[in-house]
Amino acid sequence: MYKKILLTGVNGQVGHALQRFFASDALLSGLVTCLDRSQLDLTDQDAIRRVIQAVNPDLIINPAAYTAVDKAESEPELAYAVNATAPRILAEEAAKAGAKLIHFSTDYVYSGTKVGAYTEDDAPQPLSVYGKSKLAGEDAIRSVGLQHLIFRTSWVYGAYGKNFLKTILRLATERDQLRVVADQIGAPTSSHSIADAVLNVMVHWQNEVAGTYHMVNSGQTSWHGFATAIVEEYTRIQSSRRWPQLKVVPEDIHAITSEEFPTPVVRPANSTMDCTKLARDFSVNLPNWRDALITELQSLDK
Ligand SMILES: NC(=O)c1ccc[n+]([C@@H]2O[C@H](COP(=O)([O-])OP(=O)(O)OC[C@H]3O[C@@H](n4cnc5c(N)ncnc54)[C@H](OP(=O)(O)O)[C@@H]3O)[C@@H](O)[C@H]2O)c1
Repeated sequence: MYKKILLTGVNGQVGHALQRFFASDALLSGLVTCLDRSQLDLTDQDAIRRVIQAVNPDLIINPAAYTAVDKAESEPELAYAVNATAPRILAEEAAKAGAKLIHFSTDYVYSGTKVGAYTEDDAPQPLSVYGKSKLAGEDAIRSVGLQHLIFRTSWVYGAYGKNFLKTILRLATERDQLRVVADQIGAPTSSHSIADAVLNVMVHWQNEVAGTYHMVNSGQTSWHGFATAIVEEYTRIQSSRRWPQLKVVPEDIHAITSEEFPTPVVRPANSTMDCTKLARDFSVNLPNWRDALITELQSLDK
């Protein structure tokens, strides 16, 4: 099916999960060239061209990105170099090589003011440099006109990497009360669920299908709901493992507003995204966010 696959950003959450899935797949494991930032720096345009010409892949998967949402406001050139220029060059080189491209984008391309879940037909209206740079990357790929898939995901977390799950578990062992924002809703999406979905999509990818798709765990919650679920599920699983005891119980997690937790970048209030198109075109349905959380927690000590 594929002869050579090039995977970027393998020290990131999604890149790492994809690398692990590929390594455990007998058919795919020998076909993948996995590159971290030290092996392919996406700000180095010549390096991107050189590496793609040397590897000569028939599929490029690009989960690498500049993801520091607040910092991007003071580093717009770097954010655009990684999130917009690099995807354009990846797409141009992929087109020359006759390769397909799988790229990832974000709920931050939306303003979050819609009532109800976003569909891929809704107009993007990013509020931040990060969101604008990711949208510019999407547009650049679409303008090259190659066989591509762009997956917009949200609230990514996992047993590997720096993320909300890890932060809540750390704070819950250090403090006896937590305050978490309750007026932003979305779908926490595990890196494991994304990797699993991408591998399934690769199997079902017909040549005539291309475009932009939402790819998030099903259901929705707030950051406060997610934090509460993390503490509940961790506490349930922890009794059968030798895991550190948390100081907080779910009742110690207090709901606050975004105004009470100001950040340099205003987050979308509504990040919910409808995945009907992904299910229709690829028969891929991601699990409910809470089930995915349990799976991710169970892999914490692996
Ligand atoms: N995290 C989220 O909540 C979230 C939400 C929605 C969408 N997304 C999108 O989903 C995709 C995967 O995100 P993720 O959570 O896996 O991100 P992540 O954990 O922050 O990983 C990003 C990876 O990109 C690499 N990278 C950054 N600058 C680079 C450069 N100049 N050259 C090469 N590599 C570079 C980083 O390298 P180092 O490890 O060396 O720093 C890191 O390994 C991205 O497209 C992101 O925009 C993420």
